[in-house]
Amino acid sequence: MHYVLASAPAKINLALRVGPPRLDGFHPLDTVFEAVDVFDDIEVTRTAEPTVTLTISGLGEDLPTDKSNLARAAAELLQERYDVAAGAHVHVTKRIPVAGGLAGGSADAAGTLVACNVLWGLDLDAAELLRIGAELGSDVPFALTGNLAHGTGRGEVLEALKPGAMHCWVLLTNPRGLSTPEVFREFDAIMGYERVSETLVPDTVALRDVLASPQITALGDLMVNDLAEAAFSLRPDLRKIVARIGTLGVATILSGSGPTIAILAEDFSTADAIAGTAKRAFPELGVVRANGPAAGAHVRVAR
Ligand code: C5P
Repeated sequence: MHYVLASAPAKINLALRVGPPRLDGFHPLDTVFEAVDVFDDIEVTRTAEPTVTLTISGLGEDLPTDKSNLARAAAELLQERYDVAAGAHVHVTKRIPVAGGLAGGSADAAGTLVACNVLWGLDLDAAELLRIGAELGSDVPFALTGNLAHGTGRGEVLEALKPGAMHCWVLLTNPRGLSTPEVFREFDAIMGYERVSETLVPDTVALRDVLASPQITALGDLMVNDLAEAAFSLRPDLRKIVARIGTLGVATILSGSGPTIAILAEDFSTADAIAGTAKRAFPELGVVRANGPAAGAHVRVAR
């Protein structure tokens, strides 16, 4: 192959329960991921030179394109692990807001993995891609599988869930991002947590039960994010936004480590109406309509 185009989705955590940090510093999670139909596009073009280069357009023009970028790290990891003689130019068209708690960087890594797998004819199966994804970041495996999943471990141990309904969202994105490690550090400070060898994490059983049914209101009642207080402590403006949203929609939740705030709506048309209201009420924020569940990272064109 000479050219492959893949797309990879943003995610929301319908529930994010967090325990005290493990000895390796990561926090044990019990979470429910939902992929939503906001996609980054990842184009990879084969090069004779055995190097990986990266360019970005769209929302992430200011992002670093060196090895700290997960898309580039993903291509280089595959190249190194499987002794690939060719190189690749990776171009990412970003639609997922950056540093927003929507796992956009993980989506780019997942899209690059599936695209380079085809570009370089590696023929890696889904299980191998998931293993490599987990090396790159805790959210990369879910960006590969997409749809709806229960996540444990540090978020990389996944079990697919069956949705009982489509979920209509309005995402309020923020021009100022939040650093995930910083939010986790603030969470530890608030909770008074130290690293421990055996940790207990509050579970998401009730929410997972409700997910199998079409009841949107019951789902809204059970949505929870243990990182919300930490994100609000670092960014008091977010708490004010949530207060101003009030009863707009069925329920409101901070997405992942924030700062994106997700409003769950009853149905498609209500979500469209809420998006219109939110655009007028929050001119300082981005307003994105999204539906879930959505497909994980997938190849769209290969030639
Ligand atoms: O896995 P990933 O590299 O995406 O994680 C980024 C940072 O977020 C980690 O270095 C850690 O500080 C924090 N994190 C955590 N517990 C998790 C996932 C991430 O503490 N389960």
